[in-house]
Amino acid sequence: MELPDYRHHRLRQNETWRRAVRETRLSVDDLVYPMFVTDGTGVRNSIESMPGIYQLSIDQVVEEAREAADLGIPAVLIFGVPDESTKDDLASPGYDPEGIIPMAIKAIKAACPDLLVWADVCLCEYTDHGHCGVLGTNGEIDNDATLPILSKMALTYANAGADAVAPSDMMDGRVGAIREVLDNNQHSLVPIISYAAKYSSSYYGPFRDIANSCPSHGDRKSYQMDPSNVDEAMREVDQDIAEGADIIIVKPAGSYLDVLWRVKENFGVPTAAYQVSGEYSMIKAAGQNGWLDQEGVMTESLLSIKRAGADLIITYFAKEVARKLKGSSGS
Ligand code: PBG
Ligand code: ZN
Repeated sequence: MELPDYRHHRLRQNETWRRAVRETRLSVDDLVYPMFVTDGTGVRNSIESMPGIYQLSIDQVVEEAREAADLGIPAVLIFGVPDESTKDDLASPGYDPEGIIPMAIKAIKAACPDLLVWADVCLCEYTDHGHCGVLGTNGEIDNDATLPILSKMALTYANAGADAVAPSDMMDGRVGAIREVLDNNQHSLVPIISYAAKYSSSYYGPFRDIANSCPSHGDRKSYQMDPSNVDEAMREVDQDIAEGADIIIVKPAGSYLDVLWRVKENFGVPTAAYQVSGEYSMIKAAGQNGWLDQEGVMTESLLSIKRAGADLIITYFAKEVARKLKGSSGS
């Protein structure tokens, strides 16, 4: 019988060997935890499609932020869930200096000064029609009329003390527009984390449940990217970097690992992957049904994102992974 040329099993025979030759490691430093801020006090509204994730009033957001900081997570990303009755066609609750996001930023920074607070910048959480841009007379997205509103939101959050702003609207030219307004208002050191390659994805469903941000008519296909395209993602990223983006986001993550790989390879800029709500919910649901080992699949999904080149991973699993990493030497 012919013997094998090489025995790969030698370096796999026990955990110590496996640990010694492991190529990729998740670290708590990679994680960003998304949170949803709503009105009131003592509010923790659970949402069926996202087990373990809540709409939180500011006092509760602060508790969660503290927990994340204690676990060593470097950053949180916050989204606003304002009262439905305050939403309008110009997204005005989104740039109210007394609104939930500026108040949440101040409260989190007061409680956890070293935790980075990233503020999502988009209109869909604040418009009565749920689109990410303002609408023109025929109901079409008015890209250019949206830019000053996004800039005003970003400035409001920077004024409140946000460590970074993260525009997720996919309007053309918004990174440059936001950069200019921040620079002209003493915020030249506030980074812009751009959702440069954001696809029009069915994986966002549970997010729209929890953020109450489902468009009331139509879809987002005229401004978010077509899932078939990668070259186009490269042009989006190229443009955002030219306009001054500091970190590039690829979103979703798991079904777009090729995009992530190419972005990191080609541009070499700090690159974040957003493991979105649907990716989280699928793993949770299968785990709850006993169909999959939830912790195993969670770890594997995050490792694959890291292997594909992500420097940072925005994930609803952040606290869970951080807890797991605390109890081990990495995975
Ligand atoms: C909207 C926004 C979306 C997400 C973050 N910001 C989705 C959308 O286009 O409706 C999705 C995040 C997730 O699914 O976890 N600007
Ligand atoms: Zn939006």
